[in-house]
Amino acid sequence: MKVLVIGSGGREHAIAWKLSQSSQVKSIFIAPGNGGTHLNPKFKNINLTDITLIADFAIKETIDLTIVGPELPLSEGIVDLFRSKNLNIFGPSQRAAQLESSKDFAKDFMYRHNIPTAKYKTFKTPDEAHQYINEQRAPIVIKADGLASGKGVIVAMTDKEAHDAVDFMLVDNKFGDAGAKVVIEEFLQGEEASFMVVCDGKTILPLATSQDHKRLLDQDMGPNTGGMGAYSPAPVVTKEIYTKVMDEIIYPTINGMAKDGIPFTGFLYAGLMITKSGEVKTLEYNCRMGDPETQPILMRLKSDLFEILYNAALGQLNSIKIEWDARTALAVVLASAGYPENPKLQDEIYIEDHLISDSYIFHAGTIYKDNKLLTSGGRVLAVTALGNSVKEAQSKVYEVINTVKFNGAQYRKDIGYRALNNN
Ligand code: AMP
Ligand code: GLY
Repeated sequence: MKVLVIGSGGREHAIAWKLSQSSQVKSIFIAPGNGGTHLNPKFKNINLTDITLIADFAIKETIDLTIVGPELPLSEGIVDLFRSKNLNIFGPSQRAAQLESSKDFAKDFMYRHNIPTAKYKTFKTPDEAHQYINEQRAPIVIKADGLASGKGVIVAMTDKEAHDAVDFMLVDNKFGDAGAKVVIEEFLQGEEASFMVVCDGKTILPLATSQDHKRLLDQDMGPNTGGMGAYSPAPVVTKEIYTKVMDEIIYPTINGMAKDGIPFTGFLYAGLMITKSGEVKTLEYNCRMGDPETQPILMRLKSDLFEILYNAALGQLNSIKIEWDARTALAVVLASAGYPENPKLQDEIYIEDHLISDSYIFHAGTIYKDNKLLTSGGRVLAVTALGNSVKEAQSKVYEVINTVKFNGAQYRKDIGYRALNNN
């Protein structure tokens, strides 16, 4: 079988890596891929990002299955386009992807289907938004309605920050159309977790639980990022919480989408806030796997990823069972200097061979140019390892990190600390 993976991050490298372990998969193309996928002879990078050209490529190469990594092509309608050409693709339609591409759509959907989430209001004009902030007061959360490359959420701890965020989006139009509407919502407190499932429109297959680390610095300090590290499983998702998430969030979401005439196929990611009293609320939906959560999750997957996703794309997920490695997998992201505001690019990356078992260096913002591996994005690598405990997985990852060098590399030293405190 020939498979095409869309995207260029650590998530896509991990998806391709896992697919390459399937006996059914003969060739793996990645559009556009990165330096790491370029260097691996099992993969072929295709320098395309335009969805029409990607569809033409899939026809020409007779691709058997396409898997979409990031949200942008989903919001551009890549799944609808492929289906209109009878191409097999795994992901949500453009309408279903609104669960991620419009916060207003997602909040309205959650309210209509009684899915627990923070109280909110949506605004198009600054005056009403400012007035609402004056009534509700900080801490409060301001969200751009559309896709804003992970920068569209401002957790305002003061009224001034909240008012400034509204002006940034609704007056100065800094996010363009993505910020033409803002969602203002209640500030929630608790511990976050990531909960992902695979869905073929009817059958739901939950993936292993995980926890991301969104802040740049140790102890969850500093600015928000795309994610600086993750591990799986997340002990905060106890059996009781798991059941609650399935009953109160996942089933109502999939059933609600079907009822609304927009059946959901693809990866559904619910970002959770779990309160001290054991309540679970939905912070957000993503219509794709998380990055870097994918890296540890797929390292724990024992089943054949191709078989899961191929059957999901054909609407036959009910025939599939999924098996997990009981060990913990943990990933630490190495980011370039200046990330997230202003990442410095084009630094040479040196990686020594190492002999640490069950570990892998997934590439994200890397490029191979003139026989050199260079940084080409904010998040550069995700070093991932399996261990018999969180502590062991963590030690292995930091040992591998010692074999990697590039100028100004920054990474957190405490990934997994909540799980360690939980033990
Ligand atoms: P989102 O993209 O909506 O998940 O938001 C990004 C991050 O902002 C989340 O992972 C949380 O850390 C934080 N966040 C979002 N919504 C809220 C909320 N209502 N209360 C507190 N923090 C939030
Ligand atoms: N790591 C969070 C995300 O992928 O949205």
